[in-house]
Amino acid sequence: MGKEFDSDRPIASLISPDRSSEELQLNKTIKLAIMASGNGSNFEAVAKAIETGKLNAEIKVLIYNNPDAKVRSRAEKWQVPAVLINHKEFKKRQDFDRAIVETLKEYQIDWVVMAGWMRVVTEVLLQAFPNRVINIHPSLLPSFRGLRAVEKALEAKVKITGCTVHIVSLEVDSGPILIQAAVPILIDDTPETLHARVQIEEHRILPQAIALAALSQEKQVSK
Ligand code: GRF
Repeated sequence: MGKEFDSDRPIASLISPDRSSEELQLNKTIKLAIMASGNGSNFEAVAKAIETGKLNAEIKVLIYNNPDAKVRSRAEKWQVPAVLINHKEFKKRQDFDRAIVETLKEYQIDWVVMAGWMRVVTEVLLQAFPNRVINIHPSLLPSFRGLRAVEKALEAKVKITGCTVHIVSLEVDSGPILIQAAVPILIDDTPETLHARVQIEEHRILPQAIALAALSQEKQVSK
């Protein structure tokens, strides 16, 4: 079998440019809740963007559903209150979401960011925060929705994948797209090496997408 075609890939040209901080400047400090189930590197990326003045926001609370999630210790490091709401304690998804909404209201949250939140959300959360729930997904949606998105891209042998930040709607990994970033797939990529490069882009675009969403809301309010 012949060697697979391996050209020099124009990686730089695949990376969508950063939006300038002036372009993304918010008038008001927005109150964020982050919902996460696992590692929390995106939580950390948002916290760093806030610390460095790139995102005018405050993370008021982390909601996590898995007692062993590493994100909990990241929240501790950033002195963000962490609230465990374990889905296993609820029979219905709606009841689980009702408990989440209660916490979000308690912290007077403006925007909800699902960063590695591994549960399907219901109308209970979306009606309480209409068009104010954001999700990050490790593929160029609408390709490869659902679980194992990075593996699915490798299995499909596509040459470019990436990540998407979008407003959450009832259908999983759908809803209006805020920002996407492309990542080339290299010949010897494994799910781990590819996901690592996708995450570099996730960390770059998530804070920008949050600002973009909040900005469009600011503009609508001032109309
Ligand atoms: C990210 O790849 C995100 O796109 C997906 O789950 C992963 C979470 O990563 N929804 P981390 O926990 O933020 O490191």
